[in-house]
Amino acid sequence: MITAAVFDAKPYDRQYLASAQDGSGIDWHFFDFRLDAKTAHAAQGARSVCVFVNDCLDRICIERLASLGVRHIALRCAGFNRVDLAAAAAASVAVTRVPAYSPHAVAEHTVGLLLTLNRKIHQAYNRVRELNFSLQGLVGFDIAGKTVGIIGTGKIGRVTAEIFRGFRARVLAYDPYPSKVWAEENGVVYADFDPILQSADILSLHLPLTAEVFHLLGTEAFSKMKKGVILLNTSRGELIDTKALIRALKSGHIGGVALDVYEEEEGIFFEDLSGKVLQDDELSRLLTFPNVLITAHQAFLTVEALQEIARVTALNILRLSRGETCLDGTGVFAGVS
Ligand code: NAI
Repeated sequence: MITAAVFDAKPYDRQYLASAQDGSGIDWHFFDFRLDAKTAHAAQGARSVCVFVNDCLDRICIERLASLGVRHIALRCAGFNRVDLAAAAAASVAVTRVPAYSPHAVAEHTVGLLLTLNRKIHQAYNRVRELNFSLQGLVGFDIAGKTVGIIGTGKIGRVTAEIFRGFRARVLAYDPYPSKVWAEENGVVYADFDPILQSADILSLHLPLTAEVFHLLGTEAFSKMKKGVILLNTSRGELIDTKALIRALKSGHIGGVALDVYEEEEGIFFEDLSGKVLQDDELSRLLTFPNVLITAHQAFLTVEALQEIARVTALNILRLSRGETCLDGTGVFAGVS
């Protein structure tokens, strides 16, 4: 039996990991709290730790895990920006992730956010429940014929672009590694970053967070955008400078923003803080705008994605414990021991 310590475990994590296809042979130890240097001691006795997007695996945390005998960090997500990969390699702790579980889940949520924000469905829902059947203030726009900018055409960006093509939008894309055949087959046009900023009516982020793209969208980028642009971010919060975003919203330059991620989401998203005083002033300000729609890192949350995350995570844990590499596509990418 392999012991895996699961941090930041929500009820759905427990349900899907405990019943993971291929998961027998793993003794799951679930913890509600997140993993960081202070909580690493909870991994005592585990060969693997299983973590999510807001667990903080910095050098100190990884060295503590290694000293406890942990040999494997199994991310149950795609993004790995909170793991110090160099520290993991130095400590001979393998790191695996689930690089693709359901790009459709995230892409469909992205488009759902846009439809909700643009057609004000969230406002209409509340109105009608109050027996207010007025349409005043609910005017949206057709997506057909608009220009959508997709930044990052990996798995999620490509599906999102294809959905927007289905709406008959013009789709421009930027990626340092363009998929030219896919673009041609789907009527997507690659362009440089700045021209996309200048012409997009809707701009959607689908690139990973790295140091180079921290605050990719800030004051300078906003100033290049069309007045009234709608921004969609289901990728990582730190891609957008929140303070600059608030200024651009206040000035009316940005027409609307839908976020599934937020740069200071750690400790807020995934938690029930109702009844508490929200300490984050910028998030509080964002929540006051009628043209801002926020979901709490929910884009991945479909049955299909949860099943696939659980299946691949369990497989990664078992294969690494047997000294095998992961199956193609499951991605051991650091410190293979
Ligand atoms: P992917 O690795 O398939 O694609 C990322 C693409 O971004 C690649 O084509 C890459 O060349 C491109 N890229 C890298 N640097 C770029 C830059 N500076 N400008 C433009 N493009 C750049 O990743 P995938 O699966 O499409 O996921 C994208 C991101 O979505 C993840 O990194 C993660 O942050 C986020 N995500 C969010 C979820 C949510 O629940 N909100 C769930 C899963 C992923």
